[in-house]
Amino acid sequence: MNPFQYRDSLLFAEDVNLQELANAYGTPCYVYSKGAIEHNYRAFASALQEWPTCICYAVKANSNLAVLSLLAKLGAGFDVVSIGELERVVRAGGDVSKVVFSGVAKRSDEIRRALVIGIHCFNIESTAELQRLDAITREMDIQANVSLRVNPDVNPTTHPYISTGLKENKFGVDIELALDIYQRIEQCSHLNAVGVDCHIGSQLLELAPFQTCFERIFGLIDQLNAIGIVLQHVDVGGGLGIRYTQDDQVPSHADYAQVLAPFMRDRKLELLIEPGRAIVGEAGLLLTRVEHIKNTSAKNFALVDAAMNDLLRPSLYSAWHEISAVQKSYGATATYDVVGPVCEAGDFLGKDRPLAIQEGSLLAIHAAGAYGFVMASNYNSRARAAEVLVEGDQAWLVRKRETLGQLFANEIIPD
Ligand code: LLP
Repeated sequence: MNPFQYRDSLLFAEDVNLQELANAYGTPCYVYSKGAIEHNYRAFASALQEWPTCICYAVKANSNLAVLSLLAKLGAGFDVVSIGELERVVRAGGDVSKVVFSGVAKRSDEIRRALVIGIHCFNIESTAELQRLDAITREMDIQANVSLRVNPDVNPTTHPYISTGLKENKFGVDIELALDIYQRIEQCSHLNAVGVDCHIGSQLLELAPFQTCFERIFGLIDQLNAIGIVLQHVDVGGGLGIRYTQDDQVPSHADYAQVLAPFMRDRKLELLIEPGRAIVGEAGLLLTRVEHIKNTSAKNFALVDAAMNDLLRPSLYSAWHEISAVQKSYGATATYDVVGPVCEAGDFLGKDRPLAIQEGSLLAIHAAGAYGFVMASNYNSRARAAEVLVEGDQAWLVRKRETLGQLFANEIIPD
């Protein structure tokens, strides 16, 4: 479902005119479609309905409270990686008994708080972390559910920065050591081994790496069963890719479920899945306005009011986001590098894009709902963008634009 469609020559978000929205809230501004988020969540739920399933939305993809609240109302669980994300889930009314806590270096204070809140499960990533959790649960005399994140050594064939399931990555424990570690968990009076967990990477456009990963994870579950360790759930992580370019072929939710089916069949296991991007990515765009057009002997530049501090993906991963003019014009098209005002040559949102635009034109940067605002920074002392959620013809401001006062509110000039 693409909630961003042209009506005549003007781009709409659901039934909201994006030009009017930009005038009301200013730019740069992230716009999310409630309908698309719901649609994407339900697509997972229906593809996986054959098994008892908990969709633990990966909060890191887009952690706006309005987005979390929407997913909580749909019945989602949540995958968090910090106490900040956990407190967001609590604030948004999420069900904490459906929260899994991932991450390679959970601090003691984060573990304590999660135990008090009563989350479902800790995804353990090392024996050092296991020792820490064991000590804290004994001291607090609280039981904790744990799931071991194993590193299945699978190449997800995605960008190296977002590949997480190879031996050289910092994530999870070597699958060969897992059996031993589960036996150690059995010795811990306050820990219950309830699951096994993996996450091999993000923006996967092929199913083969998932297939290999499932073979290894379910093989481990069989080995555990053989020594009398019976788990309640298998957590297959996130990673399903989305369409950034028109050529991207994305496996459907149903295709993904089909790969999973032979592994899940005839097992009494709950399925946990941690999608982030596939739920919110294509449900969002970044609106930005052209400040100037600059033509040099080498290039045409569209200098816009959004920058790498607002959307880091193009600079960090050379990621490609489709860029279109909000008002389609039948004027002359030229090829532009769409760049921001930040003082770095790496500050670009798209290169060599054919656009019919002029000073003041509005541009939409597509598929920016995941890893967009959440990775924004204040570099160059730029206040972070506003965020708006649309439903039908309604638009809600779900995060005010940061003010300059907020930028230095925490800073202190010594006497
Ligand atoms: N579970 C775990 C343990 C993860 O580390 C991640 C993402 C997910 C689930 C969700 O993965 P997804 O379904 O969204 O692919 N900033 C990068 C992406 C980093 C992903 C980190 N982990 C980007 O902009 O592409």
